[in-house]
Amino acid sequence: MKESMGSHIEGFIKNKVYSNYTMKYWNTLYKEKGIVQKEPSKKVLEAIKFFKEKRIEKILDLGCGTGRHTTLLVKENFEVHGCDNSEDALKIIKEILVDNEFRLCDMTKLLYNDGYFDGIICYQVIQHGKIADIKKSISEMHRVLKKGGYLFLVVISTKHPKFQTGEEIEPNTKINTDDIDGYMPHHFFSELEMKEFFNKYEIIKLNHFEGQSEINPSGRMASWELYAKSRTVG
Ligand SMILES: C[S@@+](CC[C@H](N)C(=O)[O-])C[C@H]1O[C@@H](n2cnc3c(N)ncnc32)[C@H](O)[C@@H]1O
Repeated sequence: MKESMGSHIEGFIKNKVYSNYTMKYWNTLYKEKGIVQKEPSKKVLEAIKFFKEKRIEKILDLGCGTGRHTTLLVKENFEVHGCDNSEDALKIIKEILVDNEFRLCDMTKLLYNDGYFDGIICYQVIQHGKIADIKKSISEMHRVLKKGGYLFLVVISTKHPKFQTGEEIEPNTKINTDDIDGYMPHHFFSELEMKEFFNKYEIIKLNHFEGQSEINPSGRMASWELYAKSRTVG
């Protein structure tokens, strides 16, 4: 932790106020702006092809937001469930996909039974937290995924330009980064962390990619995409 960090930030971190901030930020954004991201990510289009090849049926879109990927998955005839910790995002998507099931939940506590899903998609979600919460979330995804099921996940990496901004509150976790939601903690994943944090899974593909930021077209981004399988044994 940086010595120069103000006491208000230390209190903010110690008291875990940030988790409420995460929720409030996204809720406010969705309440004021409605659907903020419309175009699906190309990476998700590829993942959908992969899920089809693997004959996945029941999928969870974890941190679905207003559902740009959820709607696509529904069109492709998967049985899709969605969850997010923003009530406002869920309000929007529930009006679009009236026949699907959406739950308000935190990534650290998924309100589904063990082995409930054949597949999970989790796109730019779990970086919104500190390491302990990220690990809980990864473990929860593992619990609700059936053995032999597949996870597709994208998270920001330490090569992201925003990693050079803000204050480090724990290894690779920054606060006050140069981002619209920069006042919340963001974890930037290293390659080693990707391999260590997902060690309960069999990693099928781990790919680093860089490109235009989806939120800010004049900005750049750097992320990891992960395809992983829940081990059938162990
Ligand atoms: C960058 S948006 C991505 C939304 C969606 N996956 C997409 O690609 O359109 C991050 C989403 O994660 C959700 N989120 C943030 N923290 C969360 C948490 N602790 N538990 C569940 N969802 C969370 C936010 O509400 C927001 O919808």
